[in-house]
Amino acid sequence: MTGPAIDGEALDGVAVTCLWTLRNRAEESRHPGSAFADPRAERLQRRIEYDYARFGKPGQLHPLRALTLDFALRAYLDRHPGATVVALGEGLQTTYWRLGRPAVDWLSVDLPPVIDLRRRLLPPEPRMTSIPASALDRAWLDVPDPARGVFISAEGLFMYLERDDVFALIADCAARFPGGQLFFDSIPPWLSRRTLPTGPRGRPPSSTLPDGTDNSGLRLSARYTVPPMPFGLTVSEAARLPELVPGVAAVEDLQPPPGRRAWRPGVLRRIANLPGLRDLRPSITLVSFAGGR
Ligand SMILES: C[S@@+](CC[C@H](N)C(=O)[O-])C[C@H]1O[C@@H](n2cnc3c(N)ncnc32)[C@H](O)[C@@H]1O
Repeated sequence: MTGPAIDGEALDGVAVTCLWTLRNRAEESRHPGSAFADPRAERLQRRIEYDYARFGKPGQLHPLRALTLDFALRAYLDRHPGATVVALGEGLQTTYWRLGRPAVDWLSVDLPPVIDLRRRLLPPEPRMTSIPASALDRAWLDVPDPARGVFISAEGLFMYLERDDVFALIADCAARFPGGQLFFDSIPPWLSRRTLPTGPRGRPPSSTLPDGTDNSGLRLSARYTVPPMPFGLTVSEAARLPELVPGVAAVEDLQPPPGRRAWRPGVLRRIANLPGLRDLRPSITLVSFAGGR
C-alpha cells in the first residue's frame, strides 16, 4: 500500500467518521501493549493525509468492537463456510484481511466517496465487490447465493440512521436471509440525544460560537463535532427485538474482549452488567434470523 498521499479532507459529513474509527484502530495496533494487530490499518492511516487530532484522544472502543466482529464472523463462517458477508457502512475497515482473506464472497457497501477511497487504497480482491450506495437502498439484498448463509455487519452505522429505517432494514434482512446473522452496535438513547443539535426544551441552540465554530452536538475536540446520531437503543430494547421485528429469532448482547487499562478483564464486565448501568452503556448486538440451517 504505497503511493502518493491521499487527501482525507475531501470527505465530508458522515463519511468522515470512517477516518475517526480508522485512526483509533491504527493507533491501537501501534500500541505496544495491545492485543489488536492491524498493520494494514496503520498503513492506510499513514497514506491518508488528515488532521486526525481533530478526533480528540484515540480510544479502544473501535478496535475492541472490530475484534468482537472478527470473533462473531469467524464463528459464523466456521459453521457456514460458503456464506456471503455483507459489510454495511464498511468505511476503511480491513476485517477481510485481518481474517486472513477468507474464501467467501464479500460485499462492501458504503457511500460513493468512501467506496472511491477503498478502491484507491485497498488491494482488489477477486471475491470482494464494492457497492457505492446507501445501506438503505435495497439493491445489495440481491446476494447471489443466500441459501449458503449470509452474515451482515453494520459496525458503527445504525446510530447515524433513523429508528424506523433501521427496524425496516432488519426486517427486510430477516425475510431475505433465513438463518443469517446481523452484527450491529448501538449507542444508548441519552448519548444519541447529546449528538442532536437541539437546545434545551427543543429550542434550536445558539450553534455558532463567535469564532464561527459549531457549538451544537457532541464535540470530540474544538475542531470536530460528530454528525447527529438519531438512533439510540438500550440493551433491554435490543433484547426485545424478537418481539419487535418479524423474522428475528434471537439476539445476543456481545461483550468485547478485554483491552488495556480500564478495558482490562473483569473491570469492564463487572460495570457493563450492573443493573443501573446496563441500559446506559453502548452495546453490540448479534441478531439471528429465523429459519435456515
Ligand atoms: C463510523 S464509520 C464506521 C466505518 C467502519 N464500519 C468502521 O467500523 O470503521 C460509519 C460509516 O458508515 C457510512 N455510512 C453512513 N451512512 C451510510 C448509509 N446510509 N449507507 C452506507 N454507509 C453509510 C459512512 O460513510 C462511514 O463509512
